[in-house]
Amino acid sequence: MCGIVGYVGSQEAYPILIKGLKRLEYRGYDSAGVAIVDEDDINLIKCKGKVADLENKANGQNLKGTLGIGHTRWATHGPPNDVNSHPHYSQSKNLAIIHNGIIENYDALKKELVNQGYRFESETDTEVLINFIEMVREAEDLKLEDAVRVALNQVVGAYAIAIVERGNTDKIVLAKKGSPLVVGIGDDEFFIASDATPFVEYTKNAVYLEDEEMAVIERGKKLEIKSITDNKSIDPYIHELQMHLEEIEKGGYDHFMLKEIFEQPRSIRDTLRGRLLPDEGIISMSGVKEYGAKFENASRILFVACGTSWHAGLVAEYMFEEFARIPVEVEYASEFRYRNPIITEDDVVIAISQSGETADTLAAIELAKKKGATIFGICNVVGSSIARASHAGAYTHAGPEIGVASTKAFTAQVAVLALIALEIGRRKGALTESRFRSLISELDQIPKKVEQMLESEDMTVSIAEMYKDVSNFLYLGRGYNFPVALEGALKLKEISYIHAEGYPAAEMKHGPIALIDENMPVVVIATKNGQYEKVVSNIQEIKARNGKIIAVVNEGDETIREMADHVIEIPDTDEAFTPLITTIPLQLLSYHIAVMRGCNVDQPRNLAKSVTVE
Ligand code: F6R
Repeated sequence: MCGIVGYVGSQEAYPILIKGLKRLEYRGYDSAGVAIVDEDDINLIKCKGKVADLENKANGQNLKGTLGIGHTRWATHGPPNDVNSHPHYSQSKNLAIIHNGIIENYDALKKELVNQGYRFESETDTEVLINFIEMVREAEDLKLEDAVRVALNQVVGAYAIAIVERGNTDKIVLAKKGSPLVVGIGDDEFFIASDATPFVEYTKNAVYLEDEEMAVIERGKKLEIKSITDNKSIDPYIHELQMHLEEIEKGGYDHFMLKEIFEQPRSIRDTLRGRLLPDEGIISMSGVKEYGAKFENASRILFVACGTSWHAGLVAEYMFEEFARIPVEVEYASEFRYRNPIITEDDVVIAISQSGETADTLAAIELAKKKGATIFGICNVVGSSIARASHAGAYTHAGPEIGVASTKAFTAQVAVLALIALEIGRRKGALTESRFRSLISELDQIPKKVEQMLESEDMTVSIAEMYKDVSNFLYLGRGYNFPVALEGALKLKEISYIHAEGYPAAEMKHGPIALIDENMPVVVIATKNGQYEKVVSNIQEIKARNGKIIAVVNEGDETIREMADHVIEIPDTDEAFTPLITTIPLQLLSYHIAVMRGCNVDQPRNLAKSVTVE
């Protein structure tokens, strides 16, 4: 969490930093700040609130200069307020730092610093870090980059940091461990950021720093990268960015979330493109080809993920069991990593993550890797930490997802997982050739059906009107649509702050039924699967208790239409692919309820897009 930016070059730094911070605001938005270095001083300005609040505060201040750093915060140590905001000065005000991550041994370092006479203004671990670097620098009379390296060798924790020094209008020192940091290389200028979006219009050349690497960017010089642990020089590997500016702009929509919901026909198509070849009757995925034998012989597949990505893993559990006949477990990465799980070399661990930076998921795969499992990463962000830490993988080609609530990344994850499950099923002979071919033809039709589904937006608007003021929602589904019920509830609660719970429909009678009365809307995903009749019985049970039923059903389902208060019809498809369609009206319903309640849809309170802390 937290977003960091920096610039050194011939342009004014401040406008570049502000624009960059706005693009990174999805990473945290409880406070923001910038520091610009001129000949005399490090001019620092920061405040609680959004980047727009920072701009107001900065109005009329001297922030002229061509080197600077900026930060948008998601609070870890110390509440969001002006003092805890970044950047932080060192005590002498000779240095300033921005930091994304957590310094775990900050308490011990702080005690040492206090003994040396240091005093602190903020409650942050970051102020401890910059003073520790200053202390090391002064004690040993080191150059800034050497002091940073020596200090970091005594630091435990995660960081992406950028440090500037008073009187030096040319140089920024960077270091990375556990939090992302990318350097953009322009013509005689450098950019730094947590992801490449802040500089995509200036340069397509990007260097992603690896863990335990530090870098010096200096006006007129080449990018210099060194290992923090042994000070060895490392040749920068320059990636060519494929990202385009329009992908990270709202494009006429009121919110990124709505734009991203409507992008799904395109994002699913892009995820399937070149991989799903129905005319040839094949699926072609290089990562699966390379590790095909591992998958075929896997004693078990373990999915590790968090939040919405975990829901995608749950959908995949049904697919892998049905199509590939491999035992599957779906794990919350945060639980898995601390459980001393039993993992063997015959296990394949599939990590699912939009950002590719989620700390728990990353730690879970590191643990599984140590125990000998093969790691397959499903990430949306190219070059992200999880993608790099995996043995192989497949990117979802959803494009940048900026709304904090995940929408198009989820459907792209489900689409890519469907491809893998089908291909492994074919390889293992668990699927007959004709079933395989019919399934891939059906999967190929999904983007069109999602397009059709998006036409139900008006219906979700009128349902939203009716229920926007309730305090609770229940979501029920079975089989493939049980995870969709969880996802629908998560989407609603995170952006509208209405309490919502998702349940397997049959579990309702074991507890949640007690909540049902005339004030309780229940969203039931009731597609025509093997348990359809049982879900119909659940609907009757809700009706008998005066609950309000919003049913998502197959086209032409007259049985449920007679019982439900509202019916949303989905186009027919194979049951396995229904999550790609049933999810759409639930996303729209959450979106419209949140907008009607006046909530900040793209930046819901307390959340951040990329959870790089535990
Ligand atoms: C919910 C949401 C989160 C993320 C979770 C994992 O809308 O976005 O629950 O799914 O934080 O993030 P990634 O997929 O980046 O690992």
